[in-house]
Amino acid sequence: MKLNPYITKQLKEKYDKIDQDLDVHLEGLLHSKPINYWDYIKTDALLNLQIPRTVFPDEMVFIMYHQVNELLFKMVLTEIEQIANTSTVDANMFTEKIMRISRYFDVLTSSFSIMKDGMNVDQYNDFRTTLTPASGFQSAQYRKIEFASTELINLIDKRFRDDFDKNSSYENAFEHLYWQAAGKDYKTGEKTFTLSDFEDRYKDEFLRFTKFYKNNNLWSKFKELPKTDQSNKELIDAMRHYDYTVNIKWVMAHYTTANHYLNINGKTAEATGGSEWVKYMHPKYQKRIFFPELWTDKEIEDWGQNI
Ligand code: HEM
Repeated sequence: MKLNPYITKQLKEKYDKIDQDLDVHLEGLLHSKPINYWDYIKTDALLNLQIPRTVFPDEMVFIMYHQVNELLFKMVLTEIEQIANTSTVDANMFTEKIMRISRYFDVLTSSFSIMKDGMNVDQYNDFRTTLTPASGFQSAQYRKIEFASTELINLIDKRFRDDFDKNSSYENAFEHLYWQAAGKDYKTGEKTFTLSDFEDRYKDEFLRFTKFYKNNNLWSKFKELPKTDQSNKELIDAMRHYDYTVNIKWVMAHYTTANHYLNINGKTAEATGGSEWVKYMHPKYQKRIFFPELWTDKEIEDWGQNI
């Protein structure tokens, strides 16, 4: 087979630029092993990341499903990052990306039944005690998806949101995020270990992340589009679909699952993260909405009530 002179020329230019000898690199190719599926996808590493703490077989499913979630969260963040780093986003690209992100969340929502149906309630309630005080509440990627999707004000606890000073420091805003409510002992108001441990690990990273996304979150990028694009019906539908899927459908799938395991004969059990979860988790209390300007007052008032 004849070598393509154009590719050879490009390779030479590439290696000249970094002061490298193309011949040496070509000789390296001669000895390198051909790639295969398992090395490329890292299946051996991936399939060794499930280490249960108990002997209950369903704990394995529990760990793996959370890992699947984290991978999909990473896919969501990768899409958002592409929008954030593109200076000339148009309505088509925006719609395409938002729909893709929504599809990831559709998968997360429709698959949540894996956690509910078929998993043995007694087994779950036995192995979950071993996981205390860890909680999905400590998923940093979930928090990053929120920070990257909307303005910080929309993540402020509903009780303080309307009067909250939009120019207040990140530190102050951080202390008033809606999820702080789940991380405080509801009797004493003190931060639980679940929350303080999470903050020790991620707070600095979150502050850096929110600074970047202050002007690069999905809502800010949407507002940078020409006015005609901002009224594009397909795009608005896509944004509303995303908001609804994350903040109502996923939250409700999660809430229903928590009820299935932790609401036993009308008595609510304490969650591993220790929150007052029955109240905290329902979308009608959190009223977490990424794009409030795309919903009517009535839709906002009824948020999470008619599902
Ligand atoms: C049997 C399955 C599950 C149950 C019973 C459950 C229960 C709970 C409860 C009660 C909370 C409130 C915080 C606490 O006190 O711990 C919570 C928070 C959370 N969980 Fe789960 N969960 C389950 C599965 C999952 C899965 C698969 C994920 C995916 C990563 C997840 C992600 C989260 C997140 C992100 C939060 C914080 C939500 C917020 O702040 O509104 N959970 N979960």
